[in-house]
Amino acid sequence: MAKDKTVFFCTECGAEFSKWAGQCSACKAWNSIVEAPKERKKSAPSVPFRKNDPVPLGKISAEDEKRTETGMKELDRVLGGGIVAGSLVLASGDPGIGKSTLLLQMCRNLSERDIPVFYVSGEESLRQVKLRANRIGAFGDNMLFLAENDMDNIREHLMSIKPAVAVIDSIQTMVLPGLDSPAGSITQIKEITSFLLRLAKEEEITVFVVGHVTKEGSVAGPRMLEHMVDTVLYFEGDTTTPYRILRSVKNRFGSTNEIGVFSMERNGLIEVENPSAHMLSGMPEAEPGSIVAVTLEGTRPILVEVQALVCRTSFNFPRRTAQGTDTNRMNLMLAVLEKRLGLGLSGCDVYVNVAGGMKVTEPAIDMGIVLSVISGYANQTLPEKTAAFGEVGLIGEVRSVPQAALRVKEAAKLGYHTCIMPKCDADKLDKNTASGIRIIGVSNVRDLKKLLAES
Ligand SMILES: Nc1ncnc2c1ncn2[C@@H]1O[C@H](COP(=O)(O)OP(=O)(O)OP(=O)(O)O)[C@@H](O)[C@H]1O
Ligand SMILES: [Mg+2]
Repeated sequence: MAKDKTVFFCTECGAEFSKWAGQCSACKAWNSIVEAPKERKKSAPSVPFRKNDPVPLGKISAEDEKRTETGMKELDRVLGGGIVAGSLVLASGDPGIGKSTLLLQMCRNLSERDIPVFYVSGEESLRQVKLRANRIGAFGDNMLFLAENDMDNIREHLMSIKPAVAVIDSIQTMVLPGLDSPAGSITQIKEITSFLLRLAKEEEITVFVVGHVTKEGSVAGPRMLEHMVDTVLYFEGDTTTPYRILRSVKNRFGSTNEIGVFSMERNGLIEVENPSAHMLSGMPEAEPGSIVAVTLEGTRPILVEVQALVCRTSFNFPRRTAQGTDTNRMNLMLAVLEKRLGLGLSGCDVYVNVAGGMKVTEPAIDMGIVLSVISGYANQTLPEKTAAFGEVGLIGEVRSVPQAALRVKEAAKLGYHTCIMPKCDADKLDKNTASGIRIIGVSNVRDLKKLLAES
């Protein structure tokens, strides 16, 4: 490509340059500048700009934020209590995780309540969308579909239909014909997003945009896309298990602490109101190397089973694999156990797995990892119906974790008799929380070994 026909963009901040550089001079990010074809024609302003006058902040009514429930409690929770009129939401996730299914189900729920919705698919034909729709259930006449990639056509339809909610599936397949660059390029994504942003704000249409993710797990296209939208949702999960977790990594209208849990079934996504019970279904009764850990996802405590397989290695370097948790953290825990408890783990392969398909990276999972490894190594079971949580430090000390009382309550609710937790948190529990469940406060990993010997 001739030099004068290309331009260089920073994928972090969107700054434009005439030549490549290792570091963006605007945001100082390294290796973020990529080459993109220069746009020849500027597309005509698609949504007329409205002239606004400054107003005193105190005079703006708070009722301006209208929220519409989606009919899916888990989705509403992640959005911060429903859809905000005029917001732009980016929904992204791995291929085949269920992004289209989730948004289609949301559209069906909305259209059933006579809210006009418009679903544009650039990836699938109407027949394919219909096949998926058949899986989900019946749709009303308020829901309009369009299989189209041309943003000019979509713009015309959007302006004439003026739906309350529009879905663009996906932004990487849409093209503004006025631009020279291909679909999915930085220029296209940047222009289309700024058009959709204006459309959302000026016409009060809530726009959901589906975005693909790259191998590294970030949204394909400039990171700037995430800056431009109001909310960024990530749909994640292990495709080998039915569980899917919806998280918001950015939300201008709510907390990013909330998660939504779904299960992908034959007839679409089913909301999981009690994730702990689902995560533990099929768990074996008291086996060596298995423990229930209480983790916190946002404000929700979730019980998960942590399993460890510890066996003599037949390699020069012992193998260590962690699934559903951080491998580095697991390695750290193994080193702590080796040093502080004298376990001969250097001659063992260790495999740790958080069963159920959830990915837990919060430090409170440490206690689950440590207990499962000790139990797996010693081939001894832990007391039946025991749950555990706590952060383990490098000295072997067990440290406090947030929301200990909430975690204990969840364990008690699910019928657990014993809870192993940090001593400092256990001392602060009130009588009500601790009633009906035996609390074992530990201050060092050495206490855990004693505990195992007693069981
Ligand atoms: N009959 C079925 N029973 C159970 N699950 C199904 C069935 N049909 C499809 N699925 C699930 O739905 C997923 C596809 O969902 P969907 O098309 O919504 O994903 P997507 O995230 O939009 O994918 P893409 O990135 O390709 O657009 C499949 O990967 C599969 O897990
Ligand atoms: Mg899709």
